[in-house]
Amino acid sequence: MDMSVPAGNNPIDDNRQGLIGKPLDRVDGHLKVTGQATYAYEYAEAGVPLYGFVVTATIAKGRIRTIDTRTAERLAGVRLVLTWRDMPPQGRKESGAAPQLVDEQVLHFGQPVALVVAESFEVARAGAALVSVDYEAAPGVYDLAAAKDTARTPKPGLQAPDSALGDFGQAFASAPVQVDEIWSTPHQSHAMMEPHATLAVWHGDQLTLYTSNQMLTQAQATIAHTFQIEVTQVRVVSRYIGGGFGAKLQVHADAILAAAAARKLQRPVKLALTRQQVFHVTTHRSATIQRVRLGADQQGRLQAIAHESWSGNTEGENGYESAATQTRSLYAAPNRQTAHRLATLDLPVASAMRAPGEAVGLLALECAMDELAEKLKLDPIELRRRNEPTVDPERHVPYSVRQLVGCMDEGARRFGWDRRNPVPAQVRDGRWLVGLGMAAAIRSNFLRPSQATARVDSDGMVTIKMAMTDIGTGSYTVFTQVAAEMLGVPPARVKMLLGDTEFPAAAGSGGSFGAASGGSAAFEACDALRQKLALLAGFDPATALFANGMVSNGQQSRSLASLAGAQGVEAAGAIGPGDLARKFSQQAYGAHFVEVGVDRDTGEIRVRRMLSVFAAGRILNQKTARSQALGGMTFGIGAALMEDTAPDPHCGVFSNHDLAQYHVPAHADVPELEVVFLPETDDKANPLKIKGIGELGICGAGAAVANAIYNACGVRVRDYPVTLDKLL
Ligand code: MOS
Repeated sequence: MDMSVPAGNNPIDDNRQGLIGKPLDRVDGHLKVTGQATYAYEYAEAGVPLYGFVVTATIAKGRIRTIDTRTAERLAGVRLVLTWRDMPPQGRKESGAAPQLVDEQVLHFGQPVALVVAESFEVARAGAALVSVDYEAAPGVYDLAAAKDTARTPKPGLQAPDSALGDFGQAFASAPVQVDEIWSTPHQSHAMMEPHATLAVWHGDQLTLYTSNQMLTQAQATIAHTFQIEVTQVRVVSRYIGGGFGAKLQVHADAILAAAAARKLQRPVKLALTRQQVFHVTTHRSATIQRVRLGADQQGRLQAIAHESWSGNTEGENGYESAATQTRSLYAAPNRQTAHRLATLDLPVASAMRAPGEAVGLLALECAMDELAEKLKLDPIELRRRNEPTVDPERHVPYSVRQLVGCMDEGARRFGWDRRNPVPAQVRDGRWLVGLGMAAAIRSNFLRPSQATARVDSDGMVTIKMAMTDIGTGSYTVFTQVAAEMLGVPPARVKMLLGDTEFPAAAGSGGSFGAASGGSAAFEACDALRQKLALLAGFDPATALFANGMVSNGQQSRSLASLAGAQGVEAAGAIGPGDLARKFSQQAYGAHFVEVGVDRDTGEIRVRRMLSVFAAGRILNQKTARSQALGGMTFGIGAALMEDTAPDPHCGVFSNHDLAQYHVPAHADVPELEVVFLPETDDKANPLKIKGIGELGICGAGAAVANAIYNACGVRVRDYPVTLDKLL
């Protein structure tokens, strides 16, 4: 499928009601703040549930010699203890399943080794403490730097792990100005508000999971593969989700173990991971080691760019942190290479976290650009301007829309960039050394297959259904705006039903493709409904106008309610990536500007000001979009200054596995942030002409902080997070 909408007849362009872009309050906001939005753990379907508690491995590598479950089973109220010996046949991971309690092997600390199910959560937890596991431990490797030289080339995923163009080696060697440095970024954890939780209910052979998951259509398939049942036997419901950031892209142990236990016991089973368990049982972003080499001529024109990245993952996993990928599109240079290598670490599974790739790749590349600018005695913005490509430098296709220079110029003007002293450690404010830094933002843009239905009923209500999710980003709200604008009804006349695989299959929320994919499916469904309604009214669909709950041809008009009749009128729509994704290089762009203070005695770092300008296609809702940007920028501050999931080098446990010790920015760490969106429409992206914004805010944000720290105090720290001990 591709975009089917004829030019010049796009109600989103016309925006007659002015709903597109309007900072509409969240349509689900009232339900959330009044406690009426039901989250996974709060469902009370099918009667009184049993409660599960996961027992997790206390070694990082080795095998289970014996598990003694007898004491736990004798505890009053315990109904079941599941171990690998009791699990039903499960599909293999390679076939898209997410099997749990597979065998006696332990691949990482915190791997689930048993599930205790009881009449109450407290009894289940007490029972879990009574499960006695005898392990045979083996030595493990927990340190990426130690494993780096054993790293392999991962199998290609969405992108090839390596790329090369021209003769990098020769061009770099002969470049008069060079940067060649190594950066390292730590493991990071998503730290979303709502821990993973599931209520599993079987009705005969039909499984319903009320769970917290970002991509329901994919989850449904994963669960079917795991239990080797038909996709149609699985229903996944995630109506409200308390954040994901990638931690809920996959199906985790809570869902699989709850479903297995519920089937055995013929009772609903509810299972939540504790906050501490989330760190080991689910995924994290891998640490990286990155080498960036830049070779430029005396005018600052890049002749050679190389970006190599090493990351780690559990044995048998192929997922790697694609930290060098954005370097293929960001700056011009005739000679270039990128490479990704993956080392096996005996740590929990590493996977996507907000802006997989760019979030940590730009922490290296955008600081390397700052270092190059200093060597050239060029302003960092001018250096980037001189390396602005005219077409994608590796794919040799045009950009859809690229406003990086516009973002930098607008940001520089608003921030007062001309007041920056390029010589570090010159500006003081009392005990504070003050510095300014900037960095570019780039995030790839995707469209994923999605379907939706749109119907209108005799009460004039419009209902949209799709198996999309709202992970806190505002999907309910922006899709409501799209549907209302398409059909000429007020937002209050739209019922937006998401979060259920009973609805048409959709991409879900991930990779910043949610609004574009789900929104375009809604657009297509509404467009098809407009055609049907116009024809029912006897009007030409090409010119019929929808407004005030009516459709008109200029002379006559009919209400949607009357056309709907007793049966209602329904239409379906679908979207998917087409040719345009191949013919154009599509990214969202931005520029971050940061002012920091560094205490000249203690090295304490405070972000004092931050302003970011983004160009991300049409903005559907200025308020929800701004909130996404603020969240991403705050993540960037966290990545620069504090986030660090630290494996104990002796035993492979993430030693800071709770929110008391895994530090994310708190209010006192974040000044007032300013967000600006440049006007943009991207007609190569999707019928809505929008681009993803959920991840753009984090991309480059941390590098701007690090560059500001250097400008403040003259110390380059290439090992994130930049903590005060590294400045002294
Ligand atoms: Mo995102 S890391 O694809 O939720």
